[in-house]
Amino acid sequence: MTDPAVPPKLRSRAWFDNPDNIDMTALYLERYLNFGLSLEELRSGKPVIGIAQTGSDLSPCNRHHLVLAERVREGIREAGGIALEFPVHPIQETGKRPTAGLDRNLAYLGLVELLYGYPLDGVVLMTGCDKTTPACLMAAATVNLPAIALSVGPMLNGWHRGERTGSGTIVWKAREMLAAGEIDDEGFIKLVSSSAPSTGYCNTMGTATTMNSLAEALGMMLPGSAAIPAPYRDRQEAAYRTGKRIVEMVAEDLKPSDILTREAFLNAIVVNSAIGGSTNAPIHLNAIARHIGVPLDVTDWATHGHDVPLLVNLQPAGEYLGEDYYRAGGVPAVVAQLMQRGLIAGDARTVNGRTIGENCGRAEIEDEAVIRPIDRPLSEASGFLVLRGNLFDAAIMKTSVIGPEFRKRYLSDPADPNAFEGPVVVFDGPEDYHARIDDPVLAITDRTLLVMRGAGPIGYPGAAEVVNMRPPAYLIRQGVHSLPCLGDGRQSGTSASPSILNAAPEAAAMGGLALLRSGDRVRVDLGRGTVDLLASTEELTARRDALKAEGGYPYPPAQTPWQQIQRALVGQLDTGAILEGSEAFQRIAQTKGLPRDNH
Ligand code: FES
Ligand code: MG
Repeated sequence: MTDPAVPPKLRSRAWFDNPDNIDMTALYLERYLNFGLSLEELRSGKPVIGIAQTGSDLSPCNRHHLVLAERVREGIREAGGIALEFPVHPIQETGKRPTAGLDRNLAYLGLVELLYGYPLDGVVLMTGCDKTTPACLMAAATVNLPAIALSVGPMLNGWHRGERTGSGTIVWKAREMLAAGEIDDEGFIKLVSSSAPSTGYCNTMGTATTMNSLAEALGMMLPGSAAIPAPYRDRQEAAYRTGKRIVEMVAEDLKPSDILTREAFLNAIVVNSAIGGSTNAPIHLNAIARHIGVPLDVTDWATHGHDVPLLVNLQPAGEYLGEDYYRAGGVPAVVAQLMQRGLIAGDARTVNGRTIGENCGRAEIEDEAVIRPIDRPLSEASGFLVLRGNLFDAAIMKTSVIGPEFRKRYLSDPADPNAFEGPVVVFDGPEDYHARIDDPVLAITDRTLLVMRGAGPIGYPGAAEVVNMRPPAYLIRQGVHSLPCLGDGRQSGTSASPSILNAAPEAAAMGGLALLRSGDRVRVDLGRGTVDLLASTEELTARRDALKAEGGYPYPPAQTPWQQIQRALVGQLDTGAILEGSEAFQRIAQTKGLPRDNH
């Protein structure tokens, strides 16, 4: 960090105050005067702060940011900055087809161009719905401009007949009830809608609550602010304080590279396990790390994250919802507990200029039913397992959602309590699954493993959340609520399915899943961390050669230009599914100085 007494030369001065090129400066100035800024303000040397707006009518999860931006703007002005709000390519998780997963890298690319190409000295990242948070953090990492994230916050708790109904999680439950004939279509929609009572993002520990909690754990968000529900008064205050703070951060030249260190990422991995975070978190955190240039890979999630206790009792792993999480103390209370066991690097810096240890060390739990003390966790060793074998190089499994029913059925052989094997039924994409899951011809039993392939970054394209598949209706009626699932796609963070996900390389990249056939036997050994097709190497080679001769694993043609561009450049889920290139390519905007003048 530079001496705070000597303010850094602001990059916006290259636009608005360049004595060597007065005609360009005039050109830049005259148009920004158009919406109410005065010449005096623009030439005063005040820092220009972007408000990267992710809220819109297309993205209702983040829509409340349109209101919060006003408070951010007031904070920026109060602290002596100039605020310029601009739109980020909207991403809405449940509305975007074929998957919002396709849009994260597009929003990232767009935001990099905005942050780099306009007269901005710092930025407030308006985060929320699943992919918006990583897209914004990836862009801030690439450009390495002072940046602070502001979560839009979760919806209020959902209720139905006196019980909490959580976003997404209720859908997985309701579809079982529908399949079992317990509710009709109207009851299905009513039950699901009850989970969304206000503005804000999913109120479960889905990918949105996870990624905003991790943004705070990384140090990129004001302490205590991730979990505040969207409609709460405290949320407006957090917006105002965030606006004020970014102006100070520009004066201090406090950049993402000062905050996003390897220690910060390891802290976030530990917090993810303790909150029961989403299986999408490794993809997004690994992506952010690669854009800031910090070494992090999928095995770090098992090495540093697996042996961490589950402390937060939120759906889908537990009972409660977003309002409860905030009232119980949110991220600081969780971090304080983890610090007691030495699991957090307390000296990692955060956006408020202090360390995470200083911010959170004394935070208390306000409700032990929702956030457990570390000596009474919901479970020990609750992080992800990273699995590998002859079907893929890496896949992950969220152990905090392995429930008693699943444990009893698959993990109770006294001779081998961590392993199970069975025949597979293979589906090529969700259409195939929806069409055939209830077909008795498949002869699915409670020993069957369901496989979903063609759902990865290239095959889908974008890696869809389709791996968590329900058992056939006749099995649900017999009391079988989940079967082991395996796939090269993702799963919603709101799902409690103990699935093996994010398998890389995917079938479309000729990973081993492409070679599977229904009826093959697969062995899963959670103790050794392996998943293997029980077939000889010769057999696998012969199948691979035959598939290659047919032109490889088939997947549908691209439907938009971006689908085609992303398919050509995207990497696999274990390395963040980012647009691949050299390391210099990923961090190019940090290293090349300012862009050239435009006329
Ligand atoms: Fe947007 Fe869950 S769908 S946060
Ligand atoms: Mg999702």
